Amino acid sequence: MSVSSLTDTRWRSNFRRRLRAWYKRQARDLPWRRSREPYQVWISEIMLQQTQVSTVRPYFQRFIRSFPNIASLAAADEQDVLRHWEGLGYYRRARQLHRAAQQVVAEFGGQLPREPDRLRTLPGIGPYTAGAILSIAFDAREPILEANTTRLLARLLAYRGDVGSAAGQRTLWALAAALLPRKDVGRFNQALMELGSLVCKPRAPACNACPVRTWCGSAAHGLQDQIPKAARKTAYEEIREAAVIIRRRGRVLLRRCGPDERWSGLWDFPRVPLSAGDPAALAGELTRKVHRLTGVIAAEHRHLKTIKHGVTRFRITLECFEAAYVENAASQPHISPQKWLWPKQLPSYPLNSTGRKLAGLVAGHPPPAGQAARGQRTNPRRRAYAP
Ligand code: ADE
Repeated sequence: MSVSSLTDTRWRSNFRRRLRAWYKRQARDLPWRRSREPYQVWISEIMLQQTQVSTVRPYFQRFIRSFPNIASLAAADEQDVLRHWEGLGYYRRARQLHRAAQQVVAEFGGQLPREPDRLRTLPGIGPYTAGAILSIAFDAREPILEANTTRLLARLLAYRGDVGSAAGQRTLWALAAALLPRKDVGRFNQALMELGSLVCKPRAPACNACPVRTWCGSAAHGLQDQIPKAARKTAYEEIREAAVIIRRRGRVLLRRCGPDERWSGLWDFPRVPLSAGDPAALAGELTRKVHRLTGVIAAEHRHLKTIKHGVTRFRITLECFEAAYVENAASQPHISPQKWLWPKQLPSYPLNSTGRKLAGLVAGHPPPAGQAARGQRTNPRRRAYAP
């Protein structure tokens, strides 16, 4: 299809009819589709940003069970909200959701506003989420554009430009708006997403099963593999970090990540960047950096395992250690909140995924020799590093 054919109303109604008929047959039964309650639509759409449907399913159900409405979310402790988000990643979404619920209670009488401009004042609600909530929950005539529909519409138009550019976004939002029906808009938008997700897949799209193939510019010219144009490759950066389980009489040290840290609001074992230097100097480096971070001096570092993981553009090699508490020697006043926790307390603290793996190691490894019951103030190794 071409942009000019958008003014042809007959074409548009044929397109909608075919899409609707397909959706009626093929729509997945997803928990957030059983209700059009604005709050549930909102939660699902935030979770579905950057996360697959199959991953979101159980999280959504658990979240709604624990926080069944806006008031309960607003009144919840941020830690509890983050704990429910644990494993979904992109924790900023959860923090913003929580703050937005509080704003809805404080400013909008506890109801999500129906006006796009007011809805978009809430943290975490951009044009896509606003369009999804307004169309799905209120049947407002609002377009949506997210990953699945971006791909679908770009292919339909055979749009060869960069879909992420300002011009690409303008073109695709205009197409999404032009296609909208007058009623049942929420179902239509969901049908577009579903088609993008199940048929117009990133690789090997199932064009033979596509109800709108007749109008697809990419299928007509065999361009499905070239459209949308691949985004510029992410420049990954390799970094090395260490995390330390510091043990003190059966308990372990956790700190709460500060607002400027990668996992702001979550709890974590002391985690520090490692230089690429001499492995023999590692214990000294670790002791020094952990002391600067937490005020705690630990010794007798023992390597437990290496975990490789990725966070945004970073490829991280995480060296996991355990160490024995020596003393608390805070030299600076601005240390994040921290706690000595019993292993059985760890499940109730929100941790990132590697933090949770370390928590698993706490139970799996006995404390270093001689540390079971007494303090470590007489540890002979403590002089290895003078803070
Ligand atoms: N991706 C984003 N929103 C979605 C929805 N409502 N259904 C399925 N996939 C989605």
